[in-house]
Amino acid sequence: MVGVREMDVLLLGASGRIGHRIADELLARGHRVTGVSRSGEIADGNDSDFVAVAGDATDAGDVAKLATGHDAIASALGPGDDADPDVLTTMVRAVTEGARRAGVARLVWTGGAGGLEVESGTRLIETEDFPEEWKPVASAAIDALDVLREADDLDWTYLAPAALIEPGERTGEYRTAEGELVTDEGGESYITMEDFAVALADELEDPQGIHTYLATGY
Ligand SMILES: NC(=O)c1ccc[n+]([C@@H]2O[C@H](COP(=O)([O-])OP(=O)(O)OC[C@H]3O[C@@H](n4cnc5c(N)ncnc54)[C@H](OP(=O)(O)O)[C@@H]3O)[C@@H](O)[C@H]2O)c1
Repeated sequence: MVGVREMDVLLLGASGRIGHRIADELLARGHRVTGVSRSGEIADGNDSDFVAVAGDATDAGDVAKLATGHDAIASALGPGDDADPDVLTTMVRAVTEGARRAGVARLVWTGGAGGLEVESGTRLIETEDFPEEWKPVASAAIDALDVLREADDLDWTYLAPAALIEPGERTGEYRTAEGELVTDEGGESYITMEDFAVALADELEDPQGIHTYLATGY
């Protein structure tokens, strides 16, 4: 995009499957990225605009310290396979409080698709085919959105992947919808992690969904 200002972005969860693709996308656009994980060990391809740091996203003090001086915070935090999914709500509380203390207003959160409506009044998580094993994390991600909704003093966006998100091609094409699952012509809800990273970087550069549960897909 012409005329986009370079940003300093604090990226929480930069070592994750989605997070490292967001880092790549932001760096390719000329932004500077501070990538956070608990260990601080993040493969960065030796990009001089990338700094890897250790931090705990459940600790508001850590987040405040790390976020200071950045233009925006992006999250691709997840509970991982072992942790209690409810840690997501602890993370939202710590990140929003840390953002306030650091004076950083803009926050784009990688959320879940489970709370999106598929038809009037029905959420994806309530549909018959929704896999049982995804329910705990999907439910925790809905709770995390409820916590974020209490933080309207911040310019938050809760950006949801499609029902299915996998590594794949970067096409640069995607669609968004407010609160509704995005499906393609065949009724499938899908996005690659690469195109989700495009959507997140676009949202940081040109906000379209402040205080919004924004869904992505093809
Ligand atoms: N269809 C959907 O709705 C859908 C599908 C997939 C994913 N998602 C959501 O997208 C998000 C990212 O998914 P993913 O698969 O990329 O997750 P992931 O690969 O498990 O990555 C999670 C990231 O969070 C970091 N992290 C975890 N706890 C932390 C803490 N206390 N402090 C700092 N960093 C911490 C991890 O780093 P360390 O472990 O190194 O600290 C890692 O970088 C998740 O919230 C997930 O629920 C939604």
